[in-house]
Amino acid sequence: MTESISFVESFKQTQYQVAGNGKRNMQVLKEVFEQVDGQQESDIYGNGQIIESFQEKMATYLGKESAVFFPSGTMAQQIALRIWCDEKGVKKVAYHPLSHLEIHEEDGLKELHHIDTVLLGDEAGLIGLEDVLNLDQEIACLLLELPQREIGGQLPDYKTIVEISEYCKANGIRLHLDGARLFEILPHYQKSAAEICGLFDSVYISFYKGIGGLAGAILAGDKEFTQQSKVWKRRHGGDLISLYPYILSSNYYFEKRISKMELYYENAIELAMLFNSCPSIQTKPTVPVSNMFHVHISQPKEQLEAVLKEVYYKTGVGLTSYLKETNQSTYSFEVSIGDQYNSIPKDKLDEVFQLLKVKLK
Ligand SMILES: Cc1ncc(COP(=O)(O)O)c(C=O)c1O
Repeated sequence: MTESISFVESFKQTQYQVAGNGKRNMQVLKEVFEQVDGQQESDIYGNGQIIESFQEKMATYLGKESAVFFPSGTMAQQIALRIWCDEKGVKKVAYHPLSHLEIHEEDGLKELHHIDTVLLGDEAGLIGLEDVLNLDQEIACLLLELPQREIGGQLPDYKTIVEISEYCKANGIRLHLDGARLFEILPHYQKSAAEICGLFDSVYISFYKGIGGLAGAILAGDKEFTQQSKVWKRRHGGDLISLYPYILSSNYYFEKRISKMELYYENAIELAMLFNSCPSIQTKPTVPVSNMFHVHISQPKEQLEAVLKEVYYKTGVGLTSYLKETNQSTYSFEVSIGDQYNSIPKDKLDEVFQLLKVKLK
């Protein structure tokens, strides 16, 4: 029945999936352009109404003086850190050991900008005030990633961020927010984006995580900062002659999904609870603080794949397309809730977890 097909294939054949906003196929862009007037003018090398109005809209939303649209967060954040290092004349920054810059960017910050890094805090935990107070090296900037994706999307108390922000301000350290998932954490903090961003000197946000657009990022801060970031964007080759497919998709999906973040958050709490009701399964965090969490299952891989394949086949609901080894006996995967979760009939979901409970015993 399910033995002959691969694990990925069995996931692809499911009718429903618990995570995400749907397939990342051409329809994502086609849907955007159904609304677009073909006579509308393109942006050109970072100028033009289409890019400028979106930048202004996002600056207002984030409560910052100014904002710049970038093709990627990788480019935007390396540039932000470079600007803060140049300002202070100190080529050193601090961030979490599992920060995107440290583990997913092939050392771009070090290779391109010759910036040294201090890895702050424990891999498995969050950066705390103590870690910042105990810094024994001079740094130009501290980067906080909210939520900390690689540990399941954990978040510090709001009070901790305020205290870190005050300390940085008093000690001449710039504070940068990796807000790739900023929209997704607002329901937990019950704060506006502007309130949170007010604690940071510079902020990056993404339009293809919870928002589900094509790609694209905004870097925001004061005018002098964003002016400099435009120069660096040009140097990095980030001023594509036209970025409008990304800008239009960012704006379209922002409008479509920004009001759904509360629902995704509630759904994540509900789904994590269902996972935690099964033997051998533990989510991180136990109670999600955004739309995301990691699922850890202690079972031998072959056995686990066979169980999941059977669940997918019998219920038509896909939980994950991959299993990552976290240690020799535990496998994990990430769940980020989007539109798809609510399209699953409740009885189907019950069936999934009843079956899992029996099979994982
Ligand atoms: C926390 C975090 N920061 C930065 C980035 C980089 O964004 P981009 O893919 O736009 O370069 C990502 C992308 O996954 C991310 O998850």
